[in-house]
Amino acid sequence: MVISVIGVGYLGAVHAAAMAELGHEVIGLDIDADRIAALQAGRAPFHEPGFEEILRRGLRSGRLRFTTDYAELEPAEVHFLGLGTPQRKDGFGADLSHLESAIDSLREVLAARGGAPTLVVGKSTVPAGTARRLSDQVEQVEGVQLLWNPEFLREGFAVQDTLEPDRLVYGLREPEGPQAEAVIAMLDAVYAALLAAGVPRLVMGYETAELVKASANAFLATKISFINAIAEMCEAVGGDVADVARAIGMDDRIGAKFLRAGVGFGGGCLPKDIRAFIASAEEHGVGESLGFLREVDLINERRRARTVELAGEMLGGVEGRRITVLGAAFKPDSDDVRDSPALDVADRLMQAGARVTVTDPQALANAAQRVPGLTVEAELAAALRGAELTLLLTEWREYRDLDPVWAADLVAVPRMLDGRTVLEPRRWAEAGWEFRSLGRADSSALQQPAASIPAVPALL
Ligand code: UDX
Repeated sequence: MVISVIGVGYLGAVHAAAMAELGHEVIGLDIDADRIAALQAGRAPFHEPGFEEILRRGLRSGRLRFTTDYAELEPAEVHFLGLGTPQRKDGFGADLSHLESAIDSLREVLAARGGAPTLVVGKSTVPAGTARRLSDQVEQVEGVQLLWNPEFLREGFAVQDTLEPDRLVYGLREPEGPQAEAVIAMLDAVYAALLAAGVPRLVMGYETAELVKASANAFLATKISFINAIAEMCEAVGGDVADVARAIGMDDRIGAKFLRAGVGFGGGCLPKDIRAFIASAEEHGVGESLGFLREVDLINERRRARTVELAGEMLGGVEGRRITVLGAAFKPDSDDVRDSPALDVADRLMQAGARVTVTDPQALANAAQRVPGLTVEAELAAALRGAELTLLLTEWREYRDLDPVWAADLVAVPRMLDGRTVLEPRRWAEAGWEFRSLGRADSSALQQPAASIPAVPALL
């Protein structure tokens, strides 16, 4: 089939290349000419494992190309909308202007189809009600139908998540009836290979499909903030949040994933999506129902503040002190620094007068652009040299596997704050490090010889 993908940011670029991989003829469009030039030259504008391979394969096959010109989209039977819906500057709500202007620009292209069946498929995360409103505009053109097909891909796993999704969700104006069948059949033809491989496909109304996506992200954010709230308790009473997470995660009903405590969630999706969900609930008069998401956001925010505070406690004040931050990306295997907890903490420490050096395997260029004046160092050993405090804030494999004996020789003072609960406290303490971790009691006692650890009073 001939397909277009409008908006080739993270989601759209991966979707375009993945659809070419499935055998379709794909035209990716964006108004950002630099991005289009990079993609057309086979260069990924972001770090995503496996993406550049499928991009190049698509270009070489002749099935994938990129343009800035809407007129080139006329042959497409299916148009995917992969535009960003960032947080509005004036509040929590989603900014839908990119989506709206794409629809405006698409109108002529749709009219030129002369009534031939054409599908417009929204993939962006939008507040409930958006698809119905947009469909009123799009479906004025004869032969055109709008379907909402939310995308659930994770950065770092984007190719896999697109080609082997857990499920496909189809949101329709009317999920049943002859018209619905025709629309479903058209999108089924696009995803034929996925459906043949057994990927479940769920058909529902527009609003339900929109809510599926918002709920999925809200649930994931809630799970992370839940364990981070327990981390606060652990710090207060002397517990270990990693053990709590491991133990409760063994209950199938709870599940072990997304229970890693630490400096919290960031990125281009979870933070803005829960805020947009709160705003949308308020607009619909049910703000109280989703009021807990404000707390989810606040817990997340507090983890960053607590990390800065703990750094200060460990150093007896951060001003003028040399601090090395391991990680700038919002999560490993990504160069994305949007709302990155690691970069935010580094920035706050810098604002407080610390001499901060940040290292990261992929995200330093983006970090330096986002935080002007930040000292960045690509080489891990060089970044560690002379540090009075080291913070692990993005759990890249090389940081999880860091050898405490090797690292102790490089730093000025072996002092580690594990902001992702991924290091083994005892191992670090035994290598002579003063070791603290978010959500775990002060483990400095671990450094003392066993005999000097005060006896725990017997529980009566
Ligand atoms: C998320 C959703 O997972 C995805 O389905 C949706 O399509 C887009 O938003 P992504 O932004 O790629 O994907 O990141 P995700 O893997 O969800 O992680 C988000 C943040 O949560 C990261 O900052 C990560 O470090 C943090 N996180 C994740 C934790 O702090 N603890 C965890 O246990 C898991």
